[in-house]
Amino acid sequence: MNETLDIAHTSVPAPATREPLQLDLDAVESARRGAAVTGVQSPLPGTWQSDVLLLLNDALATEVVCGLRYRRHHFTAQGLASPKIAEEFLAHANEESAHADRLAQRIVQLGGKPDFSPHTLMLRSHAGYDESVELRAMIKANLVAERVAIECYGQMILLVGDKDSTTRRLLEDILSDEQVHAEELKDWLGDQEQGDGTEASWRL
Ligand SMILES: [Fe+2]
Ligand SMILES: [Fe+2]
Repeated sequence: MNETLDIAHTSVPAPATREPLQLDLDAVESARRGAAVTGVQSPLPGTWQSDVLLLLNDALATEVVCGLRYRRHHFTAQGLASPKIAEEFLAHANEESAHADRLAQRIVQLGGKPDFSPHTLMLRSHAGYDESVELRAMIKANLVAERVAIECYGQMILLVGDKDSTTRRLLEDILSDEQVHAEELKDWLGDQEQGDGTEASWRL
């Protein structure tokens, strides 16, 4: 037999073993029916919904308190030796508020009610408020709060797992922001320690 023809012959896949690339139309139809019933909401199975809503509302309270703490530090730090850090506190405050908004939006999507009640914010928040007057103490308080937030979001991500992938991705997004916040605060503390310890030695 001719060698060229033989190679061409053996390279053709056997039609009988080929699976067609087709959508599962039953699954598509069931997604269509589910969306028609629930609209924009994507409720979790009832057994998990109340637990997840509770976790999200506690995280919401934490974000609101963190936003308030950073905003208070922003205005208090303005008169101190580092206007740059005062501005960074404001940037963090706004990012914590954006986290709170995203959590509130997800709570509503899951059929819950976002709890912004000032009466219970501190009871539900995992992180604390802080009224330090010295820059270094403010940075330390924020670093502690960020580490608390990182621990809480890490646990929440494991708890939610595959039960609600949309919520899990939101928590992963927020966790990544909190890790950046913590790194920045750690760097600012390091900068201060390299100076002579006075507020005037802040390099930022
Ligand atoms: Fe946050
Ligand atoms: Fe943060």
